[in-house]
Amino acid sequence: MQDIADAIGRDRVARVVDVFYEHVQAHPTLQAPFAGVHDWTSHKEILTHFWWVTLGGKRYIDYSYAVARKHNEAGFTPALLVDWLALFHEIVNAEIPPELAAGWIERAERIGQSLTYMHEVAQRGAAAPMGLYRPA
Ligand code: HEM
Repeated sequence: MQDIADAIGRDRVARVVDVFYEHVQAHPTLQAPFAGVHDWTSHKEILTHFWWVTLGGKRYIDYSYAVARKHNEAGFTPALLVDWLALFHEIVNAEIPPELAAGWIERAERIGQSLTYMHEVAQRGAAAPMGLYRPA
């Protein structure tokens, strides 16, 4: 997948993250799972870095992401993901030119698929130690 970090630029990545999480905090379904975030400045910095690197930029902070565990603890569900992605589409399309917005949204959708997959595996839980294989 083509790197689009430089074309978008770190300032615009930070802007999208900022506007997105401002909306999350007032969103009818998303504000509840995000109520556990107390340091929004730090959360936005971590997410700006996450997207910058995901879009192909060079790492600039030393941080170990725990994406599966944190979403599990936050109560991730496929229904919340639908709302998350709808809001994300809206903000990215409002802030970024269409050709760059499409590339960014495509990455978000792929990560959403991974989160859904990890959620399904977690739901199967300790009863299925291999996680993946369950005879019908
Ligand atoms: C494609 C969609 C999504 C992406 C790309 C994404 C990405 C991320 C990333 C990278 C983090 C930081 C994890 C870390 O610090 O290790 C995070 C944190 C978080 N996400 Fe998501 N997320 C998505 C969807 C959702 C949804 C649907 C929910 C609803 C439950 C959610 C709730 C949270 C919460 C509450 C945190 C903060 C966790 C904490 O710091 O304790 N995310 N997300």
